[in-house]
Amino acid sequence: MLNRPDLDFDPLDPAFDADPYPLYRRLQHEDPVHWWEASGGWLVTRHDDLVEVLLDAKRFSPNRKYWEAYEPPPSGLEDLASVRMLNSTLSTTEGKQHLRLRRLANAAFTRSKVQQLEPMIRSVMDGLIDAHRSRASIDMVADVGQLFPVTTISRMFGIPAGEQLEVRFKELADDIVGLVNPLLPTSELMRGLEQAEEFLSLVHELMDWKSEHPAEDLMSAMLLAEAGDERLTRDEIVSMVFSIIIAGSETVSNAFSLGMRALVRRPDQLKLFLEQRDLRVTAVEELLRFEPSVKYLLRFATEDVKLRGQHIIEGQTVFLSVPAAHRDPDVYAYPDTLDITRDASNNYSFGAGPFFCMGSQLARLELKIAFETVLEELPNLRFDAEDWSYTPHSVLRVLNRLPLRFDPA
Ligand code: HEM
Repeated sequence: MLNRPDLDFDPLDPAFDADPYPLYRRLQHEDPVHWWEASGGWLVTRHDDLVEVLLDAKRFSPNRKYWEAYEPPPSGLEDLASVRMLNSTLSTTEGKQHLRLRRLANAAFTRSKVQQLEPMIRSVMDGLIDAHRSRASIDMVADVGQLFPVTTISRMFGIPAGEQLEVRFKELADDIVGLVNPLLPTSELMRGLEQAEEFLSLVHELMDWKSEHPAEDLMSAMLLAEAGDERLTRDEIVSMVFSIIIAGSETVSNAFSLGMRALVRRPDQLKLFLEQRDLRVTAVEELLRFEPSVKYLLRFATEDVKLRGQHIIEGQTVFLSVPAAHRDPDVYAYPDTLDITRDASNNYSFGAGPFFCMGSQLARLELKIAFETVLEELPNLRFDAEDWSYTPHSVLRVLNRLPLRFDPA
């Protein structure tokens, strides 16, 4: 193994988050499968290597149990609601059990089911923008990005808008999103989950209520979901709610704020987005390519394996850099240029293979509606201050604020 400490960096350094691309370009040329000392794993930066690893789920698994540093939850705790929940999430199950969970839950995420959510998502976005329309300034992170995905999820579960239940659901959801880090030591994860007990009982309350009053919502759909003669158990539904909140809130928030900033930086592209409605779907793909919110996808080697000449040992961590792969000049012409007319549908923001994002259709629709609502409703958008900073985060690129000005109504 050739060690290249000159190409190393601190994964939590906000200065690196501000512009990681020059170093990624060097890594792609000089050390595409790089031993990343600071994180204790391999960093993969080329598009074709990332795809190879994602599609080889047998030798590269997202399941923590293959990790060399994995400690199982202490024995005797199997009956704890939080441990039962952890054991049936999508990323802790594999093979047939994982497929079964996906098949049952997928019924709620089909293209046509997602299309039916459009009026609801529009009304969530309109509500957020209405509150600011007359003020001439808005923080796209605090006032929009952080609020609309979790509100959307809460409505999808059939939680009535404006009621105490919605407030509690959102507060508790905010508490658990921090558990998104797959490299969190089990002891810390268990501590986090203990605090999530209140969240678990809220989900049980919701299940009881929806069992008695089924309606056209995701919670009722999961309670009724059947594939052959199989159903989701109550523990599995709790895990699914947990996975959906973790996977579907901060990811959307950050993709929105990073995408919004990219558009405001490029007034020609912003104008094109507004003028050519038929470009909006490709624009979302290009924004996901240009500034993805997920920094790395994680895999653990299930056996010794060679990747581009590097010898990866069973149990080692492989960090797949989505932002680097999305700027790979072998795949994208002028990769550092935002061009909403390009076909960027081969971006890997949502992963690939058996663990491909279940919410990708929903996320795409949410982002399209969010960008168009903001751009159509807030004229002459421009930066208020360009003093953004980033929250240190191991897997997501988290912009702290995005203050913008516009011409008030
Ligand atoms: C821009 C927004 C989003 C991004 C960038 C994103 C990205 C991803 C990625 C990369 C994965 C695969 C992780 C891996 O291979 O290790 C994933 C999985 C998943 N996502 Fe998303 N996601 C987004 C939005 C959503 C939404 C809105 C939902 C649901 C409401 C959702 C639900 C899920 C679920 C349940 C999984 C687990 C699938 C499995 O393990 O089988 N995601 N997401």
